[in-house]
Amino acid sequence: MASLINQTLLSQFRVDSFVASGGMGSVYRVWDLKRNVPLAMKVLHAEMADDPSVFKHFKREANALKKLAHPNIVPFYGLYQTVDLAFLLERFIDGPSLKEILRQKKNEPLPISDALVYLKALCAALGYAHVNGVVHCDVKPGNVMVDRGGNIYLTDFGIARHAESTTTTLGAAGTPAYMAPEQILGKEVTPAADIYALGVMLFQMLTGQRPFRGTEVGTEKSGQTANERIRYGHLHLKPPDPRSVNEAVSGAIAQTILKALKKDPAERYHSASDFLAAVCEAAGVAADELPNQIVIFQSADQQDYSSGKEIIAPPSPPKSPGNFVPWLLGGGVTLILIVVLTLGRGNPLLGFPTQTPLPTYTPFPTALPTDTSVPTQTPFPTYTPYPTPRPRFIYPPTSTKQSGPMLHLNYNSMCRVGPLGSYNDVTSFPAGVDLPIVGQYYVWYLVQVSVPGSKYTKCWIWLNLNTVQGNISSIPQIDDPSTVRLYP
Ligand SMILES: Nc1ncnc2c1ncn2[C@@H]1O[C@H](COP(=O)(O)OP(=O)(O)OP(=O)(O)O)[C@@H](O)[C@H]1O
Ligand SMILES: [Mg+2]
Repeated sequence: MASLINQTLLSQFRVDSFVASGGMGSVYRVWDLKRNVPLAMKVLHAEMADDPSVFKHFKREANALKKLAHPNIVPFYGLYQTVDLAFLLERFIDGPSLKEILRQKKNEPLPISDALVYLKALCAALGYAHVNGVVHCDVKPGNVMVDRGGNIYLTDFGIARHAESTTTTLGAAGTPAYMAPEQILGKEVTPAADIYALGVMLFQMLTGQRPFRGTEVGTEKSGQTANERIRYGHLHLKPPDPRSVNEAVSGAIAQTILKALKKDPAERYHSASDFLAAVCEAAGVAADELPNQIVIFQSADQQDYSSGKEIIAPPSPPKSPGNFVPWLLGGGVTLILIVVLTLGRGNPLLGFPTQTPLPTYTPFPTALPTDTSVPTQTPFPTYTPYPTPRPRFIYPPTSTKQSGPMLHLNYNSMCRVGPLGSYNDVTSFPAGVDLPIVGQYYVWYLVQVSVPGSKYTKCWIWLNLNTVQGNISSIPQIDDPSTVRLYP
Protein backbone atom coordinates (compact mmCIF):
# COMPACT_ATOMS: atom_id res chain seq x y z
CA MET A 1 0.00 0.00 0.00
CA ALA A 2 1.21 3.52 -0.76
CA SER A 3 2.39 5.63 2.17
CA LEU A 4 -0.48 6.80 4.30
CA ILE A 5 1.20 10.07 5.17
CA ASN A 6 -0.77 13.07 3.90
CA GLN A 7 -3.72 10.91 2.88
CA THR A 8 -7.13 11.90 4.19
CA LEU A 9 -9.15 8.88 5.23
CA LEU A 10 -12.94 8.87 5.17
CA SER A 11 -12.78 12.58 4.25
CA GLN A 12 -12.05 13.34 7.87
CA PHE A 13 -8.75 11.98 9.13
CA ARG A 14 -5.56 13.42 7.65
CA VAL A 15 -2.59 11.16 8.37
CA ASP A 16 0.19 13.45 9.56
CA SER A 17 2.96 11.21 10.77
CA PHE A 18 4.06 7.74 11.64
CA VAL A 19 4.51 7.20 15.38
CA ALA A 20 5.62 3.61 15.91
CA SER A 21 5.08 0.03 14.94
CA GLY A 22 3.61 -2.35 17.50
CA GLY A 23 2.75 -6.03 17.59
CA MET A 24 -0.67 -5.64 16.02
CA GLY A 25 -0.12 -2.77 13.61
CA SER A 26 1.34 0.66 13.01
CA VAL A 27 0.45 3.74 15.00
CA TYR A 28 0.04 7.10 13.22
CA ARG A 29 -0.87 10.54 14.37
CA VAL A 30 -3.83 11.80 12.39
CA TRP A 31 -5.60 15.13 12.37
CA ASP A 32 -9.36 15.06 12.66
CA LEU A 33 -10.36 17.76 10.17
CA LYS A 34 -13.88 18.04 11.52
CA ARG A 35 -12.97 18.43 15.17
CA ASN A 36 -9.50 19.95 14.78
CA VAL A 37 -7.82 17.59 17.21
CA PRO A 38 -4.98 15.12 16.80
CA LEU A 39 -5.82 11.43 17.25
CA ALA A 40 -3.82 8.23 17.41
CA MET A 41 -4.68 5.85 14.62
CA LYS A 42 -3.79 2.19 15.01
CA VAL A 43 -3.79 0.47 11.64
CA LEU A 44 -4.01 -3.25 11.18
CA HIS A 45 -1.08 -4.61 9.17
CA ALA A 46 -2.22 -5.00 5.55
CA GLU A 47 -1.78 -8.77 5.65
CA MET A 48 -3.69 -8.97 8.93
CA ALA A 49 -6.63 -6.81 7.84
CA ASP A 50 -7.73 -9.60 5.50
CA ASP A 51 -7.70 -12.19 8.27
CA PRO A 52 -11.27 -12.40 9.59
CA SER A 53 -10.16 -13.72 12.99
CA VAL A 54 -7.83 -10.77 13.52
CA PHE A 55 -10.52 -8.37 12.38
CA LYS A 56 -12.93 -10.00 14.78
CA HIS A 57 -10.34 -9.46 17.49
CA PHE A 58 -10.19 -5.77 16.72
CA LYS A 59 -13.95 -5.55 16.60
CA ARG A 60 -14.03 -7.03 20.07
CA GLU A 61 -11.42 -4.51 21.19
CA ALA A 62 -13.60 -1.75 19.80
CA ASN A 63 -16.71 -2.95 21.58
CA ALA A 64 -14.93 -3.45 24.88
CA LEU A 65 -13.25 -0.08 24.72
CA LYS A 66 -16.33 1.87 23.81
CA LYS A 67 -17.83 0.92 27.13
CA LEU A 68 -14.94 2.29 29.12
CA ALA A 69 -14.75 5.92 30.15
CA HIS A 70 -12.26 6.62 32.93
CA PRO A 71 -9.63 9.34 33.55
CA ASN A 72 -6.85 6.70 33.49
CA ILE A 73 -7.99 4.94 30.32
CA VAL A 74 -7.13 6.34 26.89
CA PRO A 75 -10.45 7.48 25.40
CA PHE A 76 -11.39 5.41 22.42
CA TYR A 77 -13.27 6.72 19.39
CA GLY A 78 -14.09 3.64 17.36
CA LEU A 79 -13.11 1.09 14.76
CA TYR A 80 -13.17 2.32 11.16
CA GLN A 81 -12.78 0.64 7.82
CA THR A 82 -11.91 1.88 4.33
CA VAL A 83 -11.61 -0.24 1.20
CA ASP A 84 -7.93 -0.73 1.94
CA LEU A 85 -7.54 -0.80 5.67
CA ALA A 86 -9.05 -1.09 9.10
CA PHE A 87 -8.03 1.19 11.93
CA LEU A 88 -8.85 2.25 15.47
CA LEU A 89 -8.89 5.82 16.67
CA GLU A 90 -8.12 6.95 20.17
CA ARG A 91 -6.97 10.08 21.92
CA PHE A 92 -3.43 11.01 20.99
CA ILE A 93 -1.33 10.90 24.14
CA ASP A 94 1.44 13.46 23.78
CA GLY A 95 4.05 11.75 25.89
CA PRO A 96 6.10 8.63 26.39
CA SER A 97 5.06 5.17 27.47
CA LEU A 98 6.27 3.79 30.80
CA LYS A 99 8.41 1.39 28.78
CA GLU A 100 10.24 4.37 27.27
CA ILE A 101 10.53 6.04 30.68
CA LEU A 102 12.04 2.89 32.23
CA ARG A 103 14.39 2.48 29.30
CA GLN A 104 15.49 6.08 29.59
CA LYS A 105 16.29 5.47 33.24
CA LYS A 106 18.50 2.61 32.04
CA ASN A 107 16.35 0.13 33.92
CA GLU A 108 17.29 1.58 37.29
CA PRO A 109 14.58 1.07 39.94
CA LEU A 110 12.07 3.90 40.21
CA PRO A 111 11.69 5.68 43.54
CA ILE A 112 8.87 3.98 45.41
CA SER A 113 6.92 7.23 45.40
CA ASP A 114 6.89 7.21 41.57
CA ALA A 115 6.03 3.50 41.42
CA LEU A 116 3.06 4.12 43.71
CA VAL A 117 1.77 6.97 41.54
CA TYR A 118 1.76 4.65 38.51
CA LEU A 119 0.21 1.85 40.55
CA LYS A 120 -2.57 4.11 41.83
CA ALA A 121 -3.55 5.16 38.29
CA LEU A 122 -3.38 1.62 36.93
CA CYS A 123 -5.38 0.14 39.80
CA ALA A 124 -8.02 2.82 39.31
CA ALA A 125 -8.24 2.06 35.56
CA LEU A 126 -8.30 -1.71 36.05
CA GLY A 127 -10.69 -1.62 39.00
CA TYR A 128 -13.12 0.32 36.81
CA ALA A 129 -12.64 -2.01 33.80
CA HIS A 130 -13.10 -5.12 35.95
CA VAL A 131 -16.31 -3.84 37.48
CA ASN A 132 -17.51 -3.29 33.91
CA GLY A 133 -16.72 -6.86 32.94
CA VAL A 134 -13.54 -6.17 30.97
CA VAL A 135 -10.20 -7.84 31.65
CA HIS A 136 -7.31 -6.03 29.98
CA CYS A 137 -5.11 -9.12 29.41
CA ASP A 138 -2.07 -7.12 28.25
CA VAL A 139 -1.03 -4.90 31.16
CA LYS A 140 2.61 -3.92 30.59
CA PRO A 141 4.75 -0.75 30.60
CA GLY A 142 4.37 -0.39 26.79
CA ASN A 143 0.64 0.03 27.32
CA VAL A 144 0.96 2.69 29.99
CA MET A 145 1.23 6.20 28.59
CA VAL A 146 1.94 9.52 30.26
CA ASP A 147 0.77 12.79 28.76
CA ARG A 148 2.44 16.16 29.04
CA GLY A 149 0.44 16.99 32.10
CA GLY A 150 1.76 13.87 33.86
CA ASN A 151 -1.58 12.06 33.62
CA ILE A 152 -1.20 8.30 33.42
CA TYR A 153 -3.31 6.18 31.07
CA LEU A 154 -3.74 2.53 30.35
CA THR A 155 -4.17 1.84 26.65
CA ASP A 156 -4.54 -1.08 24.26
CA PHE A 157 -7.26 -3.17 25.70
CA GLY A 158 -6.09 -5.12 22.66
CA ILE A 159 -7.02 -8.55 23.82
CA ALA A 160 -9.50 -7.38 26.39
CA ARG A 161 -12.50 -9.59 26.62
CA HIS A 162 -15.78 -9.55 28.40
CA ALA A 163 -15.64 -11.56 31.58
CA GLU A 164 -18.91 -13.30 30.72
CA SER A 165 -17.40 -15.10 27.71
CA THR A 166 -15.38 -18.20 28.53
CA THR A 167 -11.78 -18.33 27.28
CA THR A 168 -9.74 -16.24 24.93
CA THR A 169 -8.22 -17.82 21.86
CA LEU A 170 -5.61 -15.08 22.02
CA GLY A 171 -4.05 -16.33 25.23
CA ALA A 172 -0.74 -16.94 23.55
CA ALA A 173 -0.75 -13.62 21.70
CA GLY A 174 -0.04 -11.32 24.66
CA THR A 175 3.35 -10.48 26.08
CA PRO A 176 4.67 -13.49 28.06
CA ALA A 177 6.85 -11.33 30.30
CA TYR A 178 3.76 -10.06 32.14
CA MET A 179 1.41 -12.98 31.57
CA ALA A 180 -0.31 -14.91 34.33
CA PRO A 181 0.06 -18.72 34.33
CA GLU A 182 -3.63 -19.32 33.59
CA GLN A 183 -3.43 -16.97 30.61
CA ILE A 184 -0.37 -18.78 29.28
CA LEU A 185 -2.31 -22.04 29.54
CA GLY A 186 -5.30 -20.55 27.68
CA LYS A 187 -7.56 -21.11 30.69
CA GLU A 188 -10.34 -18.81 31.73
CA VAL A 189 -8.94 -15.35 32.31
CA THR A 190 -10.31 -13.26 35.17
CA PRO A 191 -9.33 -9.91 36.69
CA ALA A 192 -6.72 -11.89 38.67
CA ALA A 193 -4.65 -12.12 35.46
CA ASP A 194 -4.39 -8.31 35.39
CA ILE A 195 -3.44 -8.29 39.11
CA TYR A 196 -0.63 -10.72 38.26
CA ALA A 197 0.60 -8.45 35.44
CA LEU A 198 0.49 -5.48 37.86
CA GLY A 199 2.59 -7.56 40.27
CA VAL A 200 5.17 -8.12 37.51
CA MET A 201 5.17 -4.40 36.73
CA LEU A 202 5.58 -3.37 40.38
CA PHE A 203 8.44 -5.89 40.69
CA GLN A 204 10.04 -4.31 37.62
CA MET A 205 9.49 -0.71 38.72
CA LEU A 206 11.06 -1.36 42.14
CA THR A 207 13.95 -3.59 41.05
CA GLY A 208 14.67 -2.58 37.46
CA GLN A 209 14.02 -6.07 36.15
CA ARG A 210 11.18 -8.50 35.65
CA PRO A 211 10.83 -11.59 37.84
CA PHE A 212 11.18 -14.04 34.92
CA ARG A 213 13.55 -13.18 32.12
CA GLY A 214 14.24 -16.58 30.62
CA THR A 215 17.73 -16.69 32.08
CA GLU A 216 16.95 -18.30 35.44
CA VAL A 217 18.58 -21.48 36.63
CA GLY A 218 16.19 -24.29 35.86
CA THR A 219 14.87 -22.82 32.63
CA GLU A 220 17.80 -23.86 30.38
CA LYS A 221 16.06 -26.92 29.03
CA SER A 222 12.55 -25.52 29.10
CA GLY A 223 12.62 -23.98 25.65
CA GLN A 224 14.77 -22.72 22.82
CA THR A 225 13.48 -19.18 22.74
CA ALA A 226 13.50 -16.63 25.56
CA ASN A 227 9.70 -16.43 25.38
CA GLU A 228 9.40 -20.19 25.91
CA ARG A 229 11.68 -20.02 28.93
CA ILE A 230 9.81 -17.00 30.31
CA ARG A 231 6.51 -18.87 29.97
CA TYR A 232 8.08 -21.82 31.79
CA GLY A 233 9.18 -19.51 34.61
CA HIS A 234 5.69 -18.08 35.06
CA LEU A 235 4.21 -21.57 35.08
CA HIS A 236 6.67 -23.47 37.25
CA LEU A 237 9.26 -21.34 39.06
CA LYS A 238 8.94 -19.52 42.35
CA PRO A 239 9.33 -15.80 41.67
CA PRO A 240 12.48 -14.31 43.22
CA ASP A 241 12.07 -12.14 46.31
CA PRO A 242 12.30 -8.54 45.04
CA ARG A 243 14.76 -7.86 47.90
CA SER A 244 17.24 -10.27 46.30
CA VAL A 245 17.44 -7.82 43.37
CA ASN A 246 17.05 -4.53 45.25
CA GLU A 247 17.64 -4.61 48.97
CA ALA A 248 16.02 -1.18 49.35
CA VAL A 249 12.60 -2.81 48.83
CA SER A 250 11.00 -3.35 52.22
CA GLY A 251 9.95 -6.81 53.37
CA ALA A 252 6.33 -5.68 53.63
CA ILE A 253 6.25 -4.45 50.04
CA ALA A 254 8.04 -7.58 48.81
CA GLN A 255 5.26 -9.65 50.39
CA THR A 256 2.56 -7.76 48.50
CA ILE A 257 4.35 -8.30 45.20
CA LEU A 258 4.79 -12.02 45.87
CA LYS A 259 1.11 -12.34 46.74
CA ALA A 260 0.14 -10.72 43.42
CA LEU A 261 2.45 -13.20 41.70
CA LYS A 262 0.84 -16.34 43.15
CA LYS A 263 0.42 -19.07 40.54
CA ASP A 264 -3.13 -19.76 41.72
CA PRO A 265 -5.37 -16.82 40.81
CA ALA A 266 -7.50 -17.44 43.91
CA GLU A 267 -4.48 -16.71 46.15
CA ARG A 268 -3.86 -13.26 44.67
CA TYR A 269 -5.56 -10.04 45.75
CA HIS A 270 -9.23 -10.13 44.91
CA SER A 271 -9.32 -6.70 43.29
CA ALA A 272 -7.01 -4.00 41.98
CA SER A 273 -8.06 -1.73 44.84
CA ASP A 274 -7.18 -4.44 47.41
CA PHE A 275 -3.74 -4.69 45.85
CA LEU A 276 -3.23 -0.91 45.94
CA ALA A 277 -4.44 -0.74 49.54
CA ALA A 278 -2.02 -3.50 50.60
CA VAL A 279 0.96 -1.89 48.86
CA CYS A 280 0.12 1.53 50.30
CA GLU A 281 -0.20 0.07 53.79
CA ALA A 282 3.15 -1.64 53.38
CA ALA A 283 4.68 1.68 52.26
CA GLY A 284 3.06 3.59 55.12
CA VAL A 285 1.10 5.97 52.94
CA ALA A 286 -2.61 6.50 52.30
CA ALA A 287 -3.63 5.89 48.68
CA ASP A 288 -5.67 9.08 48.47
CA GLU A 289 -2.62 11.12 49.53
CA LEU A 290 -0.70 9.93 46.48
CA PRO A 291 -0.53 12.42 43.60
CA ASN A 292 -2.67 11.70 40.56
CA GLN A 293 0.05 12.83 38.16
CA ILE A 294 3.65 11.81 37.71
CA VAL A 295 6.44 14.34 37.24
CA ILE A 296 8.56 13.50 34.22
CA PHE A 297 9.43 17.03 33.16
CA GLN A 298 11.94 19.27 34.83
CA SER A 299 12.64 22.92 35.08
CA ALA A 300 14.90 24.64 32.58
CA ASP A 301 16.21 26.80 35.42
CA GLN A 302 18.20 23.84 36.64
CA GLN A 303 19.84 23.13 33.35
CA ASP A 304 23.48 22.37 32.85
CA TYR A 305 24.40 22.95 29.24
CA SER A 306 27.96 21.75 29.68
CA SER A 307 27.27 18.14 30.52
CA GLY A 308 24.46 17.43 28.09
CA LYS A 309 23.17 15.03 30.72
CA GLU A 310 20.19 14.83 32.95
CA ILE A 311 21.18 16.63 36.12
CA ILE A 312 18.37 15.93 38.51
CA ALA A 313 18.96 12.47 39.87
CA PRO A 314 15.81 10.63 40.84
CA PRO A 315 15.25 10.89 44.58
CA SER A 316 16.45 7.84 46.52
CA PRO A 317 13.81 5.44 47.70
CA PRO A 318 12.89 6.01 51.32
CA LYS A 319 14.76 3.75 53.70
CA SER A 320 11.74 2.90 55.78
CA PRO A 321 8.01 3.52 55.67
CA GLY A 322 8.48 6.17 58.37
CA ASN A 323 10.60 8.27 56.03
CA PHE A 324 8.18 8.02 53.19
CA VAL A 325 5.52 10.55 54.07
CA PRO A 326 7.87 13.54 54.56
CA TRP A 327 9.62 12.58 51.32
CA LEU A 328 6.33 12.49 49.53
CA LEU A 329 5.39 15.88 50.93
CA GLY A 330 8.78 17.11 49.73
CA GLY A 331 7.94 15.64 46.35
CA GLY A 332 4.71 17.63 46.37
CA VAL A 333 6.62 20.84 47.04
CA THR A 334 9.05 19.92 44.26
CA LEU A 335 6.11 19.31 41.96
CA ILE A 336 4.65 22.72 42.71
CA LEU A 337 8.09 24.33 42.30
CA ILE A 338 8.64 22.59 38.99
CA VAL A 339 5.25 23.65 37.73
CA VAL A 340 5.84 27.24 38.85
CA LEU A 341 9.35 27.34 37.40
CA THR A 342 8.26 25.70 34.19
CA LEU A 343 5.38 28.05 33.65
CA GLY A 344 7.37 31.06 34.71
CA ARG A 345 10.59 30.42 32.88
CA GLY A 346 11.84 32.76 30.22
CA ASN A 347 13.83 31.90 27.16
CA PRO A 348 17.24 33.36 27.96
CA LEU A 349 18.88 31.97 24.85
CA LEU A 350 16.32 33.45 22.57
CA GLY A 351 15.30 36.70 24.14
CA PHE A 352 11.68 36.33 23.11
CA PRO A 353 9.90 39.66 23.40
CA THR A 354 8.26 39.73 26.81
CA GLN A 355 5.08 41.35 25.49
CA THR A 356 4.42 38.26 23.34
CA PRO A 357 4.52 35.24 25.58
CA LEU A 358 4.56 31.85 23.97
CA PRO A 359 1.07 30.45 23.76
CA THR A 360 0.70 28.15 26.72
CA TYR A 361 -0.01 24.52 26.14
CA THR A 362 -3.56 23.59 26.99
CA PRO A 363 -3.74 20.00 28.15
CA PHE A 364 -6.53 17.87 26.84
CA PRO A 365 -9.54 18.15 29.07
CA THR A 366 -9.87 15.13 31.29
CA ALA A 367 -13.63 15.20 30.94
CA LEU A 368 -14.79 12.11 29.16
CA PRO A 369 -16.73 12.30 25.92
CA THR A 370 -20.34 11.31 26.24
CA ASP A 371 -20.54 10.24 22.60
CA THR A 372 -17.65 7.91 21.86
CA SER A 373 -18.18 8.03 18.11
CA VAL A 374 -16.59 11.47 17.84
CA PRO A 375 -14.04 13.12 20.07
CA THR A 376 -15.34 16.10 22.00
CA GLN A 377 -12.36 18.19 22.91
CA THR A 378 -11.77 21.87 23.19
CA PRO A 379 -9.96 23.39 20.21
CA PHE A 380 -6.27 24.10 20.55
CA PRO A 381 -5.22 27.64 21.27
CA THR A 382 -4.56 29.53 18.08
CA TYR A 383 -0.96 30.41 17.41
CA THR A 384 -0.08 34.06 17.95
CA PRO A 385 2.48 35.15 15.36
CA TYR A 386 5.65 36.80 16.63
CA PRO A 387 5.96 40.51 16.06
CA THR A 388 8.92 41.89 14.13
CA PRO A 389 11.80 42.01 14.87
CA ARG A 390 11.84 38.25 15.03
CA PRO A 391 13.58 36.62 17.95
CA ARG A 392 17.30 35.98 17.71
CA PHE A 393 17.64 32.43 16.57
CA ILE A 394 18.69 30.83 13.37
CA TYR A 395 17.53 27.61 11.90
CA PRO A 396 18.12 26.22 8.45
CA PRO A 397 16.03 28.56 6.30
CA THR A 398 13.57 27.14 3.82
CA SER A 399 15.90 27.92 0.91
CA THR A 400 18.37 25.34 2.23
CA LYS A 401 15.58 22.85 2.79
CA GLN A 402 17.10 19.44 2.38
CA SER A 403 15.83 16.69 0.21
CA GLY A 404 15.83 14.48 3.32
CA PRO A 405 13.07 14.26 5.90
CA MET A 406 12.13 17.42 7.76
CA LEU A 407 10.29 18.09 10.96
CA HIS A 408 7.68 20.75 10.29
CA LEU A 409 6.65 22.46 13.51
CA ASN A 410 2.93 23.02 13.77
CA TYR A 411 3.39 24.34 17.25
CA ASN A 412 6.03 26.10 19.32
CA SER A 413 8.35 23.29 20.35
CA MET A 414 11.04 22.90 22.96
CA CYS A 415 14.31 21.53 21.76
CA ARG A 416 16.09 19.37 24.32
CA VAL A 417 19.46 17.77 24.98
CA GLY A 418 17.81 14.36 25.17
CA PRO A 419 14.60 12.59 24.32
CA LEU A 420 11.74 12.33 26.84
CA GLY A 421 10.63 15.17 29.01
CA SER A 422 13.25 15.03 31.73
CA TYR A 423 16.10 16.56 29.74
CA ASN A 424 17.07 20.21 29.69
CA ASP A 425 16.00 22.61 27.00
CA VAL A 426 18.47 23.97 24.46
CA THR A 427 16.04 26.47 22.99
CA SER A 428 12.57 26.57 21.51
CA PHE A 429 11.36 27.10 17.97
CA PRO A 430 8.11 28.67 16.85
CA ALA A 431 5.46 27.06 14.69
CA GLY A 432 6.18 27.16 10.97
CA VAL A 433 9.84 26.22 11.18
CA ASP A 434 11.20 23.22 9.19
CA LEU A 435 14.18 21.41 10.67
CA PRO A 436 16.18 18.62 9.01
CA ILE A 437 15.75 15.29 10.82
CA VAL A 438 18.96 13.36 11.44
CA GLY A 439 17.64 10.59 13.68
CA GLN A 440 14.66 9.16 15.52
CA TYR A 441 14.10 7.64 18.94
CA TYR A 442 10.47 6.63 19.25
CA VAL A 443 8.41 9.83 19.03
CA TRP A 444 11.49 12.02 19.46
CA TYR A 445 13.39 13.44 16.52
CA LEU A 446 17.01 14.50 16.45
CA VAL A 447 17.15 17.66 14.36
CA GLN A 448 19.88 19.88 12.94
CA VAL A 449 19.89 23.37 14.48
CA SER A 450 21.96 26.48 14.77
CA VAL A 451 21.42 28.54 17.90
CA PRO A 452 23.52 31.69 18.50
CA GLY A 453 25.36 31.57 21.82
CA SER A 454 24.89 27.85 22.15
CA LYS A 455 27.28 25.11 21.20
CA TYR A 456 24.51 22.75 20.19
CA THR A 457 24.14 21.79 16.55
CA LYS A 458 21.64 19.02 17.15
CA CYS A 459 18.84 18.61 19.60
CA TRP A 460 15.77 16.53 20.29
CA ILE A 461 12.22 17.61 19.50
CA TRP A 462 9.15 15.73 20.49
CA LEU A 463 6.86 14.82 17.63
CA ASN A 464 3.92 16.02 19.72
CA LEU A 465 1.82 18.15 17.38
CA ASN A 466 4.47 18.46 14.66
CA THR A 467 4.63 16.79 11.27
CA VAL A 468 7.31 14.63 9.71
CA GLN A 469 7.69 15.37 6.02
CA GLY A 470 9.62 13.46 3.37
CA ASN A 471 10.92 9.93 3.30
CA ILE A 472 10.38 8.68 6.85
CA SER A 473 11.93 5.31 6.12
CA SER A 474 15.30 6.99 5.54
CA ILE A 475 15.45 8.39 9.10
CA PRO A 476 18.18 6.58 11.06
CA GLN A 477 16.74 4.92 14.17
CA ILE A 478 18.76 5.63 17.30
CA ASP A 479 18.82 2.81 19.85
CA ASP A 480 20.78 4.51 22.56
CA PRO A 481 20.35 8.32 22.64
CA SER A 482 23.08 8.65 25.27
CA THR A 483 25.66 7.89 22.54
CA VAL A 484 24.57 10.80 20.35
CA ARG A 485 26.89 13.81 20.22
CA LEU A 486 24.95 17.06 20.13
CA TYR A 487 27.79 19.44 19.31
CA PRO A 488 31.06 19.12 17.41
N1 LIG B 1 -2.94 6.78 22.03
C1 LIG B 1 -1.66 6.94 21.67
N2 LIG B 1 -1.16 8.19 21.53
C2 LIG B 1 0.12 8.38 21.17
N3 LIG B 1 1.01 7.40 20.94
C3 LIG B 1 0.57 6.13 21.08
C4 LIG B 1 -0.77 5.83 21.44
N4 LIG B 1 -0.90 4.47 21.50
C5 LIG B 1 0.31 3.97 21.19
N5 LIG B 1 1.20 4.95 20.95
C6 LIG B 1 2.62 4.81 20.60
O1 LIG B 1 2.77 3.77 19.67
C7 LIG B 1 3.71 2.80 20.16
C8 LIG B 1 3.31 1.43 19.66
O2 LIG B 1 2.11 1.07 20.26
P1 LIG B 1 1.53 -0.39 20.17
O3 LIG B 1 0.40 -0.45 21.09
O4 LIG B 1 1.27 -0.69 18.74
O5 LIG B 1 2.70 -1.31 20.66
P2 LIG B 1 3.22 -1.59 22.16
O6 LIG B 1 2.08 -1.60 23.13
O7 LIG B 1 4.33 -0.64 22.49
O8 LIG B 1 3.82 -3.02 22.06
P3 LIG B 1 3.21 -4.36 21.45
O9 LIG B 1 3.86 -4.46 20.11
O10 LIG B 1 3.68 -5.40 22.40
O11 LIG B 1 1.71 -4.26 21.38
C9 LIG B 1 3.67 2.95 21.68
O12 LIG B 1 4.86 2.53 22.28
C10 LIG B 1 3.45 4.44 21.83
O13 LIG B 1 4.69 5.11 21.77
MG1 LIG C 1 0.38 -0.97 23.03
